[in-house]
Amino acid sequence: MKENPNAAGRKADKILIDQEVPFGIDELFFSRTDTRGVIQAFNSVFSRIAGYAAEELTGAPHKLIRHPDMPKGVFWLLWDGLKRGHSVGAYVKNRAHDGRYYWVFAVVSPTDGGYLSVRLKPSSPLFAAVKEVYAGALERERTNGLTPEQSAAAIEADLVGAGFANYGVFQIEALRREHASRDAARERVVTSALTASGQLFDVKQEIEQELRVLCDNLKKAELITTNMKIQACKLKSGRGPINEIAKSYEQMMRDIRNHPRVVQTLRKDYSTWDVNDEARSVFMIIVADLMDEMAAFFSAESASDENEGAGAEMSVFAELRERAMQDGYRAVQQLSADAEMIRRMVTGLAMVRVVLRVEAGILRERLYGLQSILDQLDRFHDEVSDALERVQEAVTPLLRDQSLAA
Ligand SMILES: Cc1cc2nc3c(=O)[nH]c(=O)nc-3n(C[C@H](O)[C@H](O)[C@H](O)COP(=O)(O)O)c2cc1C
Repeated sequence: MKENPNAAGRKADKILIDQEVPFGIDELFFSRTDTRGVIQAFNSVFSRIAGYAAEELTGAPHKLIRHPDMPKGVFWLLWDGLKRGHSVGAYVKNRAHDGRYYWVFAVVSPTDGGYLSVRLKPSSPLFAAVKEVYAGALERERTNGLTPEQSAAAIEADLVGAGFANYGVFQIEALRREHASRDAARERVVTSALTASGQLFDVKQEIEQELRVLCDNLKKAELITTNMKIQACKLKSGRGPINEIAKSYEQMMRDIRNHPRVVQTLRKDYSTWDVNDEARSVFMIIVADLMDEMAAFFSAESASDENEGAGAEMSVFAELRERAMQDGYRAVQQLSADAEMIRRMVTGLAMVRVVLRVEAGILRERLYGLQSILDQLDRFHDEVSDALERVQEAVTPLLRDQSLAA
């Protein structure tokens, strides 16, 4: 790596200058640290923007470039996520060597023996909103003497107030928006994996919605089976089969509602890193895309730098990309398994309905209320199969897109 002539030999003073260090939207920069956050490697864009010479950065703790405007709570969230093995996205304001500042959106990921942070220039409208959240958090930390953990909880509460379920969901949405905004600014044609991952996210929202409809309908249908049992009681003969059918219905509906995937999808108790598989998968597919771009960027940089250590960094990017892609694709497979599960359950319900129709035919004259019960069940089945069809329509093209697996 080339030495930065502007920075060489200068001492790290603590002045602050309210001026931004400019850098291009097309630039990416990274640093790799050990498990304690001590810098091991970086690219020349990083040393140029931070204004430090290579030898000043290597072996220095990352807080070397910490800006006093950054709330402690954000770093608490960063380390909390990393220690749990997650990739974490965060907006960070840094202080360059000469006291100027620069903002980044950083994606920090666990690697073998430490962490890797890849940074891009934030440009989405969300960025302005987050700056306000940070300013409020800093004020709270200063005036109320919050611990980093307390401040993290308050920052998360602000983000929840802004409509994000938790910090985990916020950082995924932030990466999505920053990545898309940066691509748009550069007029970049996005890869099909990225397009598909966006669709995946939308499909998941649809599935959640349909599952909610399904569960609401199942709750209503329980009333129908209760009515069926009441009607059966009025019968002198033939009450046995009707009762059995009602029981099978109830059991099947209970199985659907208690199915672990249904429960997980509709769960509401979101803790900080609790995000659904599809949201995580979108995040990981973007991380994989960033790794590709970082590798290409660094490769071009290193060729002109004659950087001999570049090979090792390239394999860190490649390994992370591979892992991120696998995580990303797992969710697509899960999604198709979900659709298949709902389909099978609804087929089971439909079969019980056929049996009920046969019984109803036999008992028609003697069972007054049964026709209206059958009508209600028809409506229930129609609604459920419509919902299912919509899910299938959304999932099928996604599964055909093999590029996501590539
Ligand atoms: C890979 C990696 C990259 C980091 N990048 C930055 C950074 O750019 N700026 C920063 O202030 N802290 C960064 N940190 C966090 C620092 O290690 C540290 O937690 C933070 O500066 C707060 O320091 P303090 O806890 O001593 O106040 C990074 C940590 C890791 C693991």
